[in-house]
Amino acid sequence: MDEISIARAVHVLAVVHWIGGVSLVTLVLLPSLMQSIPAAERLNLFERIEGRFARQAKISTVLAGLTGFYMTQRLDAWDRLSEPSFWWMHAMIAVWAIFTFVLFIAEPLFLHRWVRDRAMRDPEGTLLLVWRMHVLLLSVSFVTVAGAVLGAHGALG
Ligand code: HEM
Repeated sequence: MDEISIARAVHVLAVVHWIGGVSLVTLVLLPSLMQSIPAAERLNLFERIEGRFARQAKISTVLAGLTGFYMTQRLDAWDRLSEPSFWWMHAMIAVWAIFTFVLFIAEPLFLHRWVRDRAMRDPEGTLLLVWRMHVLLLSVSFVTVAGAVLGAHGALG
């Protein structure tokens, strides 16, 4: 087995863990909290549960990024970034950059505090907003995964 195959397997495993976790949070955790937990307690519980996943997701995003850049280098595929037909390469890098920014910069620096302050004033609306943001990120991630699998196997021309 060559290094690129190993990097590809680690890349996909990292993506499965990370986007799978985002799916669970978006499609199961947040809707359950909004349905069955009193508004004032929702954010606390959400932060406790998602905080645990966020720590793991940091590792997956780093692994996905490292293996992604490694494969791009080994496949000598940087020139794909100048071709629109390789939109799925741009999409992968964009999704990775957004999550990396949120997990490593926005959340610790200001996002956490901003969400807390907003939830003091409007607990119901804040969790709805958090859920909508998750739906948006998850949708973009799904399109990216589908595009990447099709593109990497030559199905997009
Ligand atoms: C820095 C960010 C990333 C880079 C540089 C990168 C790069 C790559 C490269 C070079 C490949 C192999 C393409 C080929 O064989 O022609 C690949 C495959 C793939 N990537 Fe990424 N990637 C990144 C992030 C992501 C993210 C965030 C996702 C998911 C949302 C993702 C999902 C996939 C999938 C599903 C495959 C296809 C595996 C297969 O079916 O063979 N990647 N990536």
